[in-house]
Amino acid sequence: MRVGLLTGGGDCPGLNAVIRAVVRGGLAAGDNSFLGFRHGWAGVLDDDAFELDLASTAGILPRGGTILGTSRTNPFLEGRDGVAPVRDTLATRGVDALIAIGGEDTLGVALRLHEAGVPIVGVPKTIDNDLGGTDVTFGYQTAVQIVTDAIDRLHTTAESHNRVMVVEVMGRHAGWIATQAGIAGGADAILVPERPFDIDQVVAHLRQRHERGRSFSIVVVAEGATPLDGTLQTQGDAPTDAFGHVRLGGIGVTLEKELEARTGFEARVTILGHVQRGGTPVAFDRVLATRFGVAAMRAATAKRFGAMVALRGTDIVEVELAEALREPKLLDPALYETAELFFG
Ligand code: F6P
Repeated sequence: MRVGLLTGGGDCPGLNAVIRAVVRGGLAAGDNSFLGFRHGWAGVLDDDAFELDLASTAGILPRGGTILGTSRTNPFLEGRDGVAPVRDTLATRGVDALIAIGGEDTLGVALRLHEAGVPIVGVPKTIDNDLGGTDVTFGYQTAVQIVTDAIDRLHTTAESHNRVMVVEVMGRHAGWIATQAGIAGGADAILVPERPFDIDQVVAHLRQRHERGRSFSIVVVAEGATPLDGTLQTQGDAPTDAFGHVRLGGIGVTLEKELEARTGFEARVTILGHVQRGGTPVAFDRVLATRFGVAAMRAATAKRFGAMVALRGTDIVEVELAEALREPKLLDPALYETAELFFG
């Protein structure tokens, strides 16, 4: 069988581990060959691809990023027919199955193609951990570790200067990274997209902490967090990508100013940004990505198209792409309630 691979959307630690696992698992299983499409759906639309084999996937397990490159190209942008060019490329290249590794946008395209009869299997990827159908996505644990390490470092400088440190982290729809790393790092307030925040409440937490004799605080805010209606002026319009998502970032800057003005405590913001996606995956993500890659190859071999591999408990399973994409996986309220016990 000839298998095509692509990585789409934001990059994510563990992508290379998936690619390696598909190739190694596929070579061990039989007479298979592999074609890597460059830069997500762009590579399929432009027929831009290269051969993947033992040599070209050697040494990539611990490497961040993706050897295939990635993009947010949308084959269905502005009503375009993405099906025909994808079909053409797969036919020209003799590809029997495509493994698409990506988040809601990349897999949303995969689902549309599957519904049109294109043979596709999905692998869930996002550091945000907000994809349905799977308990967890690879890359998420690495991001949480990076943010936790950053919070630890910010603690010592916050304490030395008696400052409020605002840490802005990724999380467009969901506050998984903010909450998990906030708990691990001992944050004094955590603001997430699922719960519009009350700035007065955040101020109250910081005051309460100072009244207890603590002279510094850490506030973790997800980039997608918003204030309760009408309580705070935030930044204006931002550009959108090919899937219509606004480029986020900047809520931390607003909070830095507001918290300093409202509490009188000096404040500083750190926007961790793409640091959270860069570099080597932690062991958990390497193993999960490897298991996903092996399972995706098995699904493709068995022609279980339209499936997405997933983690449920400790098992790797297959779910329907349609089911996984039905709605985003938002933060577990119980996790946030645990975090809240430590605010203020
Ligand atoms: O991978 C998801 C994500 O990390 C979001 O949290 C964030 O909004 C987005 O990617 C930003 O990615 P880029 O700057 O590459 O468009």
